[in-house]
Amino acid sequence: MKAVKVPLKQLNTLRKELMGKKIMDMDYKIKTDEYFGYIPIIENEYGSYEIVDTELDLLKRQPQNFKELLENSLNKNEMNDLKNSFDVIGDIVIVEIPPSLVSKKKDIGKATLKFSKKKSVYMKRSTIHGMTRIRDLELIAGINNPVTIYKEHNTRLKLNVEKVYFSPRLATERKRISDSVIENERILDMFCGVGPFSCVISKNNNVKIIGVDINNDAIKYFKENIKLNKLKNIKPIHGDIKEVYEDLKSLKFDRIIMNLPGLAYSFLEQAFDLIADNGIVNYYEFSNSYNQAIKRIEDMALQKNKKIKIINKRKVKSVSPGQYHIAIDAKINY
Ligand SMILES: C[S@@+](CC[C@H](N)C(=O)[O-])C[C@H]1O[C@@H](n2cnc3c(N)ncnc32)[C@H](O)[C@@H]1O
Repeated sequence: MKAVKVPLKQLNTLRKELMGKKIMDMDYKIKTDEYFGYIPIIENEYGSYEIVDTELDLLKRQPQNFKELLENSLNKNEMNDLKNSFDVIGDIVIVEIPPSLVSKKKDIGKATLKFSKKKSVYMKRSTIHGMTRIRDLELIAGINNPVTIYKEHNTRLKLNVEKVYFSPRLATERKRISDSVIENERILDMFCGVGPFSCVISKNNNVKIIGVDINNDAIKYFKENIKLNKLKNIKPIHGDIKEVYEDLKSLKFDRIIMNLPGLAYSFLEQAFDLIADNGIVNYYEFSNSYNQAIKRIEDMALQKNKKIKIINKRKVKSVSPGQYHIAIDAKINY
């Protein structure tokens, strides 16, 4: 193995120099003796330095992605089918495995576990479905414990990935909403789940929040998360918002969060009845454009005889080719 022989005093400076010039051989370890260091090099000469032929240990290279760990288990076509990304929720990884690779799920699970250094790997077994918006999962590697604690924006969220909806991909959206909240807002989180919007907002702002969800498990974790984060002025309610609405009718809210993108439009009437003048509705929809969502908000405004102003619109994430989880912020009776 070719190496530059260098007095120990100059070893570090020369190492940096060779790395910078990309002529150090990164597959081997530098070795030293009493007076000299030996830096592996890919060229035959370097300035006036002595180049020697010596034995150097191979470096154990870390895999750059989990595909590299599967090189011996999958053929080239299977490798092409493999998805590169996965969701990490606390110490759980959730992967999507295409039908052509289901027979290799254990290998994929093991590689994901090793690469991610997390405790469990579950594969998606269905799309998100039903009223509670949960997904079927199957453990493919690691320990079978679907309960975990996820951290974001100074907040900890405990949840069971099999029993509740949760998406780490909405973290930026939660931060955006939390940052737009003003002091003392009264907030209704219509479809709160385990409380990610409510908890992040409450942890970072002085506000009053009511969160409603039809999934009893989600409300159970929401209550735990309120304790976990030592939050105040935040009230979880289990139930269907259309029924809970009857008890909330006497209240007004400065902000209503409607993160049920497939069906939020069917709750706009309740949102318009509960929103205070100058209040903001954070409305979500799955769509290929903003037009349908804006039209639905405008139609409801007409029906309720209220003025609206669209103050912001954005694509939160892509859900399928051409389809997005979109967000519209509408100010009501401004
Ligand atoms: C897409 S998830 C969002 C949960 C949470 N906001 C989040 O971002 O993680 C929608 C939530 O709405 C709840 N849900 C569905 N229909 C409901 C209804 N009629 N009333 C109250 N909650 C409902 C589901 O149980 C689910 O937890």
